[in-house]
Amino acid sequence: MKSPAPASSSSSSLSSSSPRKGPLSAYLLIVSFILFVAFLYGEDFACIFRRSFVSSEIHQYSLSREEDMAAGDEKREIEVPFAIGRGKRGCDAFDGEWIYDQEGRPQYEEEECPYIQPQLTCQAHGRPDSTYQHWRWQPRSCYLPSFNATLMLEKLRGKRMMYVGDSLNRGQFVSMICLLHRAIPKNAKSMETFDSLTIFTAKDYNATIEFYWAPFLVESNSDNAVIHRISDRIVRARSINKHAQHWKGSDILVFNSYLWWMTGQKMKILRGSFDGDMKNIVEMETEDAYRLALKRMVKWVEKNMDPNRTRIFFTTMSPSHGRSMEWGGKPDGNCYNETTPIKDPNYWGISSDKRIMHVISEVFDKSKVPISVINITQLSEYRKDAHTSIYKKQWNPLTPEQLANPKSYADCVHWCLPGLQDSWNELLYAKLFFP
Ligand SMILES: *[C@@H]1O[C@H](CO)[C@@H](O)[C@H](O)[C@H]1NC(C)=O
Ligand SMILES: *[C@@H]1O[C@H](CO)[C@@H](O)[C@H](O)[C@H]1NC(C)=O
Ligand SMILES: *[C@@H]1O[C@H](CO)[C@@H](O)[C@H](O)[C@H]1NC(C)=O
Ligand SMILES: *[C@@H]1O[C@H](CO)[C@@H](O)[C@H](O)[C@H]1NC(C)=O
Ligand SMILES: *[C@@H]1O[C@H](CO)[C@@H](O)[C@H](O)[C@H]1NC(C)=O
Repeated sequence: MKSPAPASSSSSSLSSSSPRKGPLSAYLLIVSFILFVAFLYGEDFACIFRRSFVSSEIHQYSLSREEDMAAGDEKREIEVPFAIGRGKRGCDAFDGEWIYDQEGRPQYEEEECPYIQPQLTCQAHGRPDSTYQHWRWQPRSCYLPSFNATLMLEKLRGKRMMYVGDSLNRGQFVSMICLLHRAIPKNAKSMETFDSLTIFTAKDYNATIEFYWAPFLVESNSDNAVIHRISDRIVRARSINKHAQHWKGSDILVFNSYLWWMTGQKMKILRGSFDGDMKNIVEMETEDAYRLALKRMVKWVEKNMDPNRTRIFFTTMSPSHGRSMEWGGKPDGNCYNETTPIKDPNYWGISSDKRIMHVISEVFDKSKVPISVINITQLSEYRKDAHTSIYKKQWNPLTPEQLANPKSYADCVHWCLPGLQDSWNELLYAKLFFP
């Protein structure tokens, strides 16, 4: 711990500027007034000092390009597309803590963003608390750059950004649109859906932000964007072109794939096509099947994406909170009624399979085209409070038994918007512009 330097620096700025403004008596009056206020609002002052104390300790996340050049890094690699600066060396943006930020978060209101699907509008579905919207992710040793929607749109001018994956990635896609929404005039945007593809257009920028439904990335029997509640899942782990033909020409790709692999059983891999007799099915351990699919994705990326012009991201596993015993809660509880994040920095629930995490690093480390990992697993593990729980549009009418026991139908997988997924996009923003 360092001495609280900011306290002395703020008093020195007081003494250097105030006396020049008037006679000594006025100065004393001001000082005594400040002391009086400080006494009245002791907590608030402590808070202000604490904040400035933090800012003297933590470095800015990013360096500007000029600072970067001035640092004279000889070994600087080729320019990374979209970069406007560089992330602080040695700062792991994914290692940190949640800070309650009443004024600074959320960055938009639920009712203000018309694109949030009713499965994620928790306030509209009666969620009584809104504290889950006010947490800001604070990396341990640097600040994240603040999200600037205008800047993002300008960088996306004439470009195509696409999220590819499952419903969790769809949530992140919607979060991104909501973060940008305010900066686009009313009649200058549109959203259209064509089967598996949803396209948001910012007309003045000739920019699109898109979502493509492919829960396994590779071909599967769960590929219908609307009717896909399939329990007997089958994938064609080496077939990707049916989907990937729609990704061609994207400038930024953001993949995810995890939840649908978690069947608790071996994966069924189809060697032939879904149109054939479907006889050639082999069973495989989940992580082996997952490895095949990620390798196929990397192969496609290497063949079709130009690292000098485009960027590729992969969002890691999104955790769920289905058993409160895991975080020391009641034996029969889940995320229902949870309103605060988990405080234990080492908390890791059973829903995030470490073997899958291992496959992600293993496969991407060998990729010839860089794939930036947005490692949201640990930081989302803490957020047992951020799920949609029972506050969402239900697919089917609830039975009287369910209604009598709300936690029985709580969704502890998906996340309310605004909320946690906005932070995922802030991290994506940081990595996109300050790699
Ligand atoms: C956001 O970015 C725009 C475009 O680069 C810039 O003009 C504006 O000053 C930025 N806003 C803030 C608050 O930094
Ligand atoms: C709009 O962007 C697309 C790429 O997404 C490009 O092909 C097209 O030429 C652009 N149109 C204009 C008018 O700039
Ligand atoms: C990327 O740019 C570098 C330097 O301009 C060039 O040598 C390299 O061949 C380019 N890579 C691709 C895949 O176009
Ligand atoms: C929900 O939480 C409140 C306050 O913590 C508690 O009084 C109530 O019993 C909880 N309800 C259930 C069903 O756990
Ligand atoms: C993501 O972060 C966790 C710890 O927070 C780490 O164990 C894991 O290896 C990271 N995964 C990747 C793919 O970088």
